Amino acid sequence: MSVMHIVLYLFLIVECYCSFFDPAYIYSGIVWNDTDGKSIQSHAAGILIDPNDNSYWWYGESLKTSTLADHGVNCYHSKDLINWINIGEVLGQKQVVIQNQSGPYVIERPKVVWNPLTKLYVMWFHLDSYDYQYRYAGIATSPTPNGKFTFIDAFQPDGVPSLDMNLYEDKRNGVVQGVYFVRSCNNEYVGISKLTDDYLNTTGITSRIGEPREGHAIFYRNNRYYMMTSHLTGWSPNPAELFVTNQDNLQHAEWSSLGNPTNSPTTFNSQSTFVLPYPSRKFPGTFVYIYMGDRWNAPELLNATYIWLPFTFNSDTNVTLEWQDKWDLNDY
Ligand SMILES: *[C@@H]1O[C@H](CO)[C@@H](O)[C@H](O)[C@H]1NC(C)=O
Ligand SMILES: *[C@@H]1O[C@H](CO)[C@@H](O)[C@H](O)[C@H]1NC(C)=O
Ligand SMILES: *[C@@H]1O[C@H](CO)[C@@H](O)[C@H](O)[C@H]1NC(C)=O
Ligand SMILES: *[C@@H]1O[C@H](CO)[C@@H](O)[C@H](O)[C@H]1NC(C)=O
Ligand SMILES: *[C@@H]1O[C@H](CO)[C@@H](O)[C@H](O)[C@H]1NC(C)=O
Repeated sequence: MSVMHIVLYLFLIVECYCSFFDPAYIYSGIVWNDTDGKSIQSHAAGILIDPNDNSYWWYGESLKTSTLADHGVNCYHSKDLINWINIGEVLGQKQVVIQNQSGPYVIERPKVVWNPLTKLYVMWFHLDSYDYQYRYAGIATSPTPNGKFTFIDAFQPDGVPSLDMNLYEDKRNGVVQGVYFVRSCNNEYVGISKLTDDYLNTTGITSRIGEPREGHAIFYRNNRYYMMTSHLTGWSPNPAELFVTNQDNLQHAEWSSLGNPTNSPTTFNSQSTFVLPYPSRKFPGTFVYIYMGDRWNAPELLNATYIWLPFTFNSDTNVTLEWQDKWDLNDY
């Protein structure tokens, strides 16, 4: 082995050691860039954990221009939640074709789950007219997570006008118990319905919160379900409200309020869209629950940024979310 080789090996060892401890900062409220250095446009996000390699697929609304006809669903891919590769548009506005209706439509809050029965990636999204009177949910599918997705259908699930929505994959120890559709029912209450086995329809509302809420994001921790929500004030921020169940059953869950975990009347100028359980680097075997929200007016819709912050569980019912300009995934 030459001196050159030894130097090279030493360099590689130091390099590996350092990159293992590289900070993995998540910033909030500033423009995020993809691996090409372009700003990430993926609003009202939903994260799909890849069923094959546990990488992350981030689906969201395209740049919030005032021209609805340009809108669609964008997708980004990452192995580490930090470096995001732009996949591009996976569903376009013009693909939505509905009998006796004409677009352009509002396409909001896309969420994707993988169906083990049909082996299809199934996307649900809020589909609406420009004036939010249509109140439908749309469905598109793809054999691969990177699309393109094919528009399948749009309807009012369980016959109820549907606005803000999310999907929740109820997975315990790697086994899917069911996928749930949670949405704002006619902006009057929150309704939760289990999906059919093919994930293309709902099976009736079995759990509800009797007041209007938006930005629903369900997660599971320590034998309880939680639901992060916002109030309804259009694009303006408002106090978040976190709900919890007292039972280990989402199908017939009853919810009670834990108040606003942020103590910020504007939820740090953001609205919830998703909560991602992320395997803790510091405490293996546990999870970091990452709040994901949108800062819509930054300073206008066109400049919307992302707010991602880790929840703190002081106890099962004392849950807080603190502001941090940046935080390191290695510290959680
Ligand atoms: C993204 O790029 C912009 C412009 O170069 C920069 O101001 C911003 O800090 C970058 N964002 C992150 C998270 O590094
Ligand atoms: C669409 O319009 C046609 C002609 O007006 C009507 O016959 C048909 O029932 C309508 N279909 C739906 C789904 O509303
Ligand atoms: C969904 O299920 C309802 C109730 O069974 C049924 O009436 C409706 O036709 C189904 N919709 C679709 C799109 O399959
Ligand atoms: C908002 O976004 C537009 C379009 O991308 C850009 O031209 C403008 O500089 C942005 N403004 C701010 C304050 O970031
Ligand atoms: C929640 O936990 C924090 C940190 O331990 C504590 O300061 C606070 O008083 C607790 N709040 C309630 C309502 O118990």
